[in-house]
Amino acid sequence: MKFFIDTANLAQIKEAQDLGVLDGVTTNPSLMAKEGIKGEGNILKHYVDICNIVTGDVSAEVISTDFEGMVKEGEALADLHPQIVVKVPMIKDGVKAIKYFTEKGIRTNCTLVFSAGQALLAAKAGATYVSPFIGRLDDVSTDGLVLIEEIRTIYDNYGYQTQILAASVRHPMHIINCAKIGADVATCPLSAITALLKHPLTDSGLAQFLKDAGK
Ligand code: E4P
Repeated sequence: MKFFIDTANLAQIKEAQDLGVLDGVTTNPSLMAKEGIKGEGNILKHYVDICNIVTGDVSAEVISTDFEGMVKEGEALADLHPQIVVKVPMIKDGVKAIKYFTEKGIRTNCTLVFSAGQALLAAKAGATYVSPFIGRLDDVSTDGLVLIEEIRTIYDNYGYQTQILAASVRHPMHIINCAKIGADVATCPLSAITALLKHPLTDSGLAQFLKDAGK
């Protein structure tokens, strides 16, 4: 399973990259705003800065909601760097834009996906990635992992190549369960990735080994 980091924070991206297990980055307008990145020029530069830290795909989201606007923005984003994947919301014009980008060889990440039907549409339009938001489903008492299972079944039934990118991941059990189901990617906060490291028996075992090594 690929690990993406879900942030626009350059220090956290670098820390995950240095760990040696990072396969890409996802951003969204809220994550960019959280880092105080404002203005078109600064936003575009920030995407290039991210691409220069990591070796994998970097999702950059359009903010237009009409077909023409999404195409214009998406083409400009894709021209920025070969690692850029254009992130497009799951709305009617978004599906049309994904189809357009697919035919032009521009890679896409269909975002804000909350149902199997939406994921099926994204795959039919040729999305490179589909992003089901499992944490936000959990927040409204709906099991996000069930959606990952449904999408996995549908994509496997028909051989769709769209990669399932589990998004809105909140904790290490989300990552482990997504891996068990067969999600292709999990995009996670750095805290969820580093939480996978932790086990008290590792800590106590290492402490004992170091103590014995000194004897
Ligand atoms: C990533 O592509 C999504 O934008 C992100 O995972 C959403 O996460 P959140 O629900 O924690 O905001």
